[in-house]
Amino acid sequence: MAIKLPGLIDVHVHLREPGATHKEDFSSGTAAALAGGVTTVLAMPNTQPPLVDAAAFQMALDAAEQKARCDYGIFLGANLNNAAELPALATQSAGLKFYLDATFGPLLLDDIGAWREHFEHWPRHMPIVAHAEMQTLAALLFVAGLYERPVHIAHVSRKEEIRLIRTAKEKGQLVTCEVAPHHLFLSTDDLPAPNGRGAGGEGRMSVRPRLATPTDQQALWDNLDVIDCFATDHAPHTLEEKDSETPPPGFPGLETALPLLLTAVHAGRLTLDDIVARMHINPRRIFNLPEQPETWVEIDPAAEYEIRAANHFTRCAWTPYEGWPVRGRVRRVVLRGQEVFKDGKILAKPGYGINVRMA
Ligand code: NCD
Ligand code: ZN
Repeated sequence: MAIKLPGLIDVHVHLREPGATHKEDFSSGTAAALAGGVTTVLAMPNTQPPLVDAAAFQMALDAAEQKARCDYGIFLGANLNNAAELPALATQSAGLKFYLDATFGPLLLDDIGAWREHFEHWPRHMPIVAHAEMQTLAALLFVAGLYERPVHIAHVSRKEEIRLIRTAKEKGQLVTCEVAPHHLFLSTDDLPAPNGRGAGGEGRMSVRPRLATPTDQQALWDNLDVIDCFATDHAPHTLEEKDSETPPPGFPGLETALPLLLTAVHAGRLTLDDIVARMHINPRRIFNLPEQPETWVEIDPAAEYEIRAANHFTRCAWTPYEGWPVRGRVRRVVLRGQEVFKDGKILAKPGYGINVRMA
């Protein structure tokens, strides 16, 4: 029996182009998207160079236009001195990304004066997304509230964060948020024994925000109604990099999100409507995305199998869920009237995808 879902939207992916195409590029990353039932991706700006000016942004737009197999938008990155320059590029972008806590790449906006400048310049109708954890989240909500403008909080992972967002919403603040599957399905219980590689000893399991405690994880499930989107934060790094002395943070996620979520549906922890709301309806509304006509995903909800990186299209060639038993498989994806994925084969050519802001 097949079930039809709308084309899923992943509002948080890293496709590594320009600059790190050995990890991923627009072609491999959007192939992974289609295999995961995702027909629109919004790509993050922490590339090399980072997308903080017109020249770098154009490099990403050009690469995507030639290579993307599904539809896409591309974020601009806020830095300490580009607030005045970015508005001219805004309508071509998915939105503006604020990196307010440290992570992979150089885009840390650690000056509150710069936050204000960006709030003052960036067009009101275009989205702002922030990586803001714990106290930084509280500070951001305060400043965004002063400017009375909506902000979308990326990859919420902790109990106090989801509680803060709940209260802010209850007080009428214009805030939305996403949670990544790895914070719903993994926790500190899944970390390697102490003295692993890297700063926190997390080895391969290094990710930002870090895996949180089982209590934090439970709080996300308990506050599902506050979670507007499930977004993968697909952040591919090669196994060699992940197993090095200095593992970069990040997990691939595009090909495992839907199987993990469908498995949770089977277990009675979620409904299909919960997934459709958070990976289609709400992302479309929050990011003002165009409708994709004649677009759907066919899944077999009863298919049981084990997750294997060897079957994935992402270039990074590993997954934190290797061997996990799941239930629910993407069978077929139709995007704008074209069959783009069927039974394990990518049928969309590089360049088939269109920029959601050009539609
Ligand atoms: C991301 C990456 O690798 O680009 N890493 C991560 O751990 N999530 C950066 C980010 O999203 O913060
Ligand atoms: Zn990210």
